[in-house]
Amino acid sequence: MRIGVCSQYYTNPPAQKINFTGVLHVDPKTGNINDSWFNRDRKILQEAADEIKTTFPNGADVLIYGCSTGEENISFKMFLPDGKYRAIGYDTSADALRIGKRGVYTVFSNWYDSYLLPSVSKSQLKQNYPSEYQELLELREKFHDMMYEVPASREYKDINNKSAYISLKCENPDFVERFYCLHNAYRSQIDLRLGNFMNVGQVRKENPVGGIFFRNAIYHMCNNNVNEVLNYNALPGVFKNKNLLMDYLINGVYKTLDKGGIFVLGNHLKEHLFLTDETTPKENVVNFCDTPFYVESNKNHREHKFLKCFKESPLLQALLKGGRFEPIGFSEVTTYHCKVKVPVIFKKIR
Ligand SMILES: C[S@@+](CC[C@H](N)C(=O)[O-])C[C@H]1O[C@@H](n2cnc3c(N)ncnc32)[C@H](O)[C@@H]1O
Repeated sequence: MRIGVCSQYYTNPPAQKINFTGVLHVDPKTGNINDSWFNRDRKILQEAADEIKTTFPNGADVLIYGCSTGEENISFKMFLPDGKYRAIGYDTSADALRIGKRGVYTVFSNWYDSYLLPSVSKSQLKQNYPSEYQELLELREKFHDMMYEVPASREYKDINNKSAYISLKCENPDFVERFYCLHNAYRSQIDLRLGNFMNVGQVRKENPVGGIFFRNAIYHMCNNNVNEVLNYNALPGVFKNKNLLMDYLINGVYKTLDKGGIFVLGNHLKEHLFLTDETTPKENVVNFCDTPFYVESNKNHREHKFLKCFKESPLLQALLKGGRFEPIGFSEVTTYHCKVKVPVIFKKIR
């Protein structure tokens, strides 16, 4: 039994006996998980939006790579609704983009963004998230300003991973699912395009680029499936030279971002802890148990104690090289009972 979320975020108790890794969509071609949800790591979305607004008061484009079905674009616009800022999403998954372009999304109970459902009463919300109550209520209002409810329809059945969906429905009698469609007024500010982060340096700019996001996705590019290794004993993926790849990608980000613009990462373990490759210099190799992400009380972690990892992530090395970027925003990677502060917003300073 495994479910890819932490139970503390559930509005209702999690369903039991679920054997899937993502509740949303898996690209049928690549098997990549396209999971996303609204307002993921929302504190960072807020900070990123504020920073872009301050640095680019006349407007800017924000390029959201790995946008999947577009929840991230819509969430970003909740924090920066001004029409001068476009959220242009890029993804390699034609299937995720096809679903996203329809503009219809599901929100359901038992997930991170269940607080958006009007059926979750204010008192329930207050009880479940006492310290975040006001903030979540405001986000809920913003969400319903941008989206309107549409009736369930057969054509939306492809939004969710079928087995996940059926498991949730069978396991939880109170399972709630609602469909929401993006208002037309926002469509011109949110675009979804086929695009690979590999080509981020070759983007033809249409406006100043104030932000480039690539959240919870870079692991796809170098097979850095550290989470899967820890949970399922999968073989570590080895990209030939992760340092070279990250240097190439970050050079592309630097080229495309305007000065003062920001690069934003996710807070998933897989983009902060990197498994070594065959070229990693010895002095940068460390056992998993010697990284801050290791939790001794966790059996999976103990079993992978000697997994070889980068002491400093090749992504961070690339970002900090040459004084081009400085970290200005921090989030937390949450693994079991351990929270590790990580830099996720990097400002182009020269
Ligand atoms: C787990 S989802 C993350 C979605 C969203 N960014 C979030 O944080 O919720 C990862 C997405 O990255 C996309 N992806 C993987 N490699 C990519 C690449 N090289 N360029 C653009 N998108 C990519 C996948 O297709 C998938 O939709």
